Amino acid sequence: MKKLLATLASGAMLLSLVGCSSASTAATAAATEAAAATEAAAAASGKTVKVGVSIYKFDDNFMTLYRTELQKYFGEQTDGNTYQVDIQDGKGDQAEQTNQIDNFIQQGYDVLIINLVQSTSAATVMDKCKEANIPCVFINRQPSDDDMNKYKDDATYGGKYTYVGADARQSGKFQGEIVADLPNKGDLNGDGKLQYVMVQGDPENVDAQYRTEFSISQYKEKSGLDVEQLDMQRGDWDQAKGQEIVANDLSQYGDKIECVFCNNDAMALGAAQAIEAAGRTVGKDIYLVGVDALADAISLIKAGKMTGTVYNDHVSQSHKAADAAIMAVNGEKLDQFYWVDYIKVTSDNIDTYNK
Ligand code: GAL
Repeated sequence: MKKLLATLASGAMLLSLVGCSSASTAATAAATEAAAATEAAAAASGKTVKVGVSIYKFDDNFMTLYRTELQKYFGEQTDGNTYQVDIQDGKGDQAEQTNQIDNFIQQGYDVLIINLVQSTSAATVMDKCKEANIPCVFINRQPSDDDMNKYKDDATYGGKYTYVGADARQSGKFQGEIVADLPNKGDLNGDGKLQYVMVQGDPENVDAQYRTEFSISQYKEKSGLDVEQLDMQRGDWDQAKGQEIVANDLSQYGDKIECVFCNNDAMALGAAQAIEAAGRTVGKDIYLVGVDALADAISLIKAGKMTGTVYNDHVSQSHKAADAAIMAVNGEKLDQFYWVDYIKVTSDNIDTYNK
């Protein structure tokens, strides 16, 4: 019976189709056909876009999250193009990275995404890209304003390069506020001053410079208290170095240390190990803040072993970087900068901060 009904139905459809021979129906059919042909042509003309990426070094927790998301996002594009993304490890060596960039250029890559090993190399990289007329998206390590302005008004290369990142001043300020907003403002010994240790990233990096400066200036402004820096050491964004520095400081300054500021979470994870090993308790007799919101740091905040961190939004940053690269490949003019906000993370908003 079902079969019979189906046969009758399709027969009726056929009859109605045959009967529909009016001019307007024919025109609609032709239009539909034309649209389908255009779509097919677009898909067929979808090109392979070669994207050359160089990350300052693969062995960096935050940049690992960033590059993984970048690769994934390119793979999710539905514009008919195929994105062939080649991500290389700069190994913390500018000469190595420059070599990679030279190779990308020589092999006719369509666009480059560069996380500089040294931000001072931006001008050289831009010169090379300009000469080859290949758009370039700088990420994570902000070049100087002078370098960013170099080809700003250039007739051929203006609008073909950009920087995508987050304003490190904001992350520093958020760190300072997290400590200033504590009921005792972090001043455990009540002497009207915050005794602290600063663990810096790579000091050539503006993220390290700004976080170091603005965490303290904002703390002072928000708390109305003074500060006393007991130590400042470079930890190069590295967990083991963070652990070593803070272990030494704890044995040298002991109870005098009220707060440890780390320019990133990897170093804060190391600091947390040192703090625990020294028998100190975060939230009770010491405070600890980082930046990035790595999963391990989030777990420590939940467990009360870190005071807070600042979410460094690698998802939005990598997406914006890819969007900018795609725009440039399509001949669209780029803004000079694309910014992504940081978000303060403490136990108060830990479950909702990036929702
Ligand atoms: C920072 C990040 C650090 C490190 C650094 C590399 O933005 O907070 O963890 O990845 O970039 O340049």
